[in-house]
Amino acid sequence: MKRAAALIVAAGSGERAGGGMPKQFRPLAGKPVLQHATDLFAAHPGFCLTVVTAPRDHVAQAAALAPDALCIAGGATRADSVRAGLEALRGTAPDFVFIHDAARPGLTSTMLDRLLDVLQSHPATAPYLPLADSLRQVDVDGALVGCPPREGLVRVQTPQAFWYDAIVKAYAAWPHDYPSTDDLEVGFAAGLKAKLVDGAIGLHKLTVPEDFAMLNAVLSPALLTRVGSGFDAHRLGPGDHVMLCGVRIPDQRALIGHSDADVGWHALTDAILGALGEGDIGDHFPPTDPRWKGAASSAFLAHAAGLVQARGGRIVNVDVTLICERPRIKPHRAAMRAATAAVLGVAETAVSIKATTTEEMGFTGRGEGIAAQATACIGVPV
Ligand code: CTP
Ligand code: MG
Repeated sequence: MKRAAALIVAAGSGERAGGGMPKQFRPLAGKPVLQHATDLFAAHPGFCLTVVTAPRDHVAQAAALAPDALCIAGGATRADSVRAGLEALRGTAPDFVFIHDAARPGLTSTMLDRLLDVLQSHPATAPYLPLADSLRQVDVDGALVGCPPREGLVRVQTPQAFWYDAIVKAYAAWPHDYPSTDDLEVGFAAGLKAKLVDGAIGLHKLTVPEDFAMLNAVLSPALLTRVGSGFDAHRLGPGDHVMLCGVRIPDQRALIGHSDADVGWHALTDAILGALGEGDIGDHFPPTDPRWKGAASSAFLAHAAGLVQARGGRIVNVDVTLICERPRIKPHRAAMRAATAAVLGVAETAVSIKATTTEEMGFTGRGEGIAAQATACIGVPV
């Protein structure tokens, strides 16, 4: 199989996008912009190496996001960055090179396959989109001065993919001081026969601030809302403290259980598992298993939160009600909220802790035990 390399140009300063840092390091749809492309190339079996060109003072930041890639300093212009990247690939001498703007995070493996396919028979290829708007020429004051025809004109995107030797030669022949905004132009000037493929809206380039909201909406997976509920009760017995929602509260008695018997977090763990449709806490942490004897219930809660994350979902909000006459919960509510938010990895505003008595009725009213119920709302990809 022919060997392909990726050259991701990420050495621009992102002037037009604003945002206080180069746009390729800003978060979008769950991770930094640059990492979308580096992760994709790293996961594709057809690519043996990724080179990333970064601004000189951001090379280490790029390397942290793309540990498998070779990260080097780019140049003053995009073309200079491409030249630096092609040079860095010299030792590897790949058959193909995919030159890609880091500012286009919506790359897919389908697109890589489409371009790889064309490279089997053509030295150059790139994705393109038809023009939907009319093309008009205006002067600096906005006065209409020309109406060029649209026929045959398209917009091109990246990755622009080439036979490595051919694009290296093309760049060698392109004057250093002559501007170019893409590689297809450089290849075309050198006579490379390019065949373009269907582009994708998701490959839109982040250029101005509005592009962030637009691409975020396109690239973020649609989430389905799911709700789960949980209930738990533990008997009170001899002891000197109770654990409730991660907070140790001194008391003349203790909650009896296999683990630390934190009813609040047990109910909440069940609520999250319920929202996922993943059974209950006993399925994941059998009470017969000695590993969980005296265990901190944070492990159960963190496990449930980890399952949400593994599904690509997120916790929207949780609500816990503790049911007991004693201890008084109110003085500990803020600490419980903070502890719960920390384990779940959500903002404290996403956590509610409430308490009620049962007016001295039933087992909680008689002080035989403490109960808790919880609700969790999560979003999971459709
Ligand atoms: N690029 C690069 N080296 C440069 C300039 C640009 O590697 N000297 C990269 C950018 O990081 C981006 C891609 O080329 O991924 C496309 O360029 P552009 O959208 O113009 O990005 P910036 O130059 O960063 O933005 P601006 O022109 O608004 O400053
Ligand atoms: Mg630029």
